[in-house]
Amino acid sequence: MTDSSGTSASATGGFGVSGLTGPARAANAARTAVVWDALSRLLARLSEDGPLEIVDAGGGTGGVAVPLAELGHRVTVVEPSPDSLAALERRASESGVTVRGVQGETRDLASLFPEGSADLVLVHNVLEYVDEPAAALADVAGITRPGGAVSLLATNAVAGVLHRALAGQITEAQHLLSDAEGRWGEADPMPRRFAPQQLLELIAQSGLSGETLRGVRVFADILPGHAWEGDAQAGQHLVELEKAAADHPELLGIATQLHVIANKP
Ligand SMILES: C[S@@+](CC[C@H](N)C(=O)[O-])C[C@H]1O[C@@H](n2cnc3c(N)ncnc32)[C@H](O)[C@@H]1O
Repeated sequence: MTDSSGTSASATGGFGVSGLTGPARAANAARTAVVWDALSRLLARLSEDGPLEIVDAGGGTGGVAVPLAELGHRVTVVEPSPDSLAALERRASESGVTVRGVQGETRDLASLFPEGSADLVLVHNVLEYVDEPAAALADVAGITRPGGAVSLLATNAVAGVLHRALAGQITEAQHLLSDAEGRWGEADPMPRRFAPQQLLELIAQSGLSGETLRGVRVFADILPGHAWEGDAQAGQHLVELEKAAADHPELLGIATQLHVIANKP
C-alpha cells in the first residue's frame, strides 16, 4: 500500500488486513471488499492532484484510517473514546504511518476543521450511535469541500430482521420489523439501524447528493463460516459474489450494511 491510487491495497483484499492470516483474512476480505472497492475508485478520482485531506468521523481504532494513511493521504480520526484513540496510535505506529487522532464527536467537527476543508469524510457505522443523525450528517457535510465526498456506511434495519429470525429470536425480529429506530428491544446494544430509504432521505436533507446505495455483507454474515473461511478459493469466490451482489436492488434488503458515496455539490 504505497500510492494514493488504492490499487495495491485493493489487491490485498481490503481494510486492516495486515497481520491477518487464513480464515480471519478470508472473513475480513469478504466483509470489506465492497466498501474498499468503492473507496478505491473514489480515491483514484479525488486524488488526481495528490494526497487527500481525509477525516474519519468516529474512526475508532483506525481500521480504515491507517490503511488510508498507508496510501499517503493525510488522515485525522475524530473519536470520543480515549481507549480507541490509544489503539489507533499503536496501530498507526506499528504500520509506520502518522494518523492524527482528536478526541471529539461529530458535533465538534465544525469547530475542529474549517468549513469545506476535507476532501473526503468517512462516517462508517457511526450514525447508529449519535444522538441526532441528521445533525451529525449536516456537520459532516459542512466540513466537506465542494466537489469532495462523504463515505457513509450504516447498519441495515431490514437485514437485522432476517438476522434475528435466523438466530431463532422470532419475537425480536418482529419487534425490529416495525420499530422506528430499527431496534429489536430494550436490550439491543445498537441504538439505531436504518432502512435504505431513511438513509437516502438523511443524505438529501444534509445537502449532499447521494448516489446509489450498495449492499455490504449480503452473504458473508449468513453463510456458515466453515463453508468458506478455511478455503482460500471459496473465500475468493465469496468476495466476487459480494461484489456482484452489492448493486443488486433486491439483495440490498438482506445486506448487513448499506454503503453510499455521497458528493458535496
Ligand atoms: C462501530 S464503531 C465504528 C468504528 C469505525 N468507524 C469503523 O468502521 O471501524 C462506532 C464508533 O463511533 C464512535 N462514536 C460514538 N458516538 C460518536 C459521536 N457522537 N461522534 C463521533 N463518534 C462517535 C464510537 O466511539 C466508535 O468508535
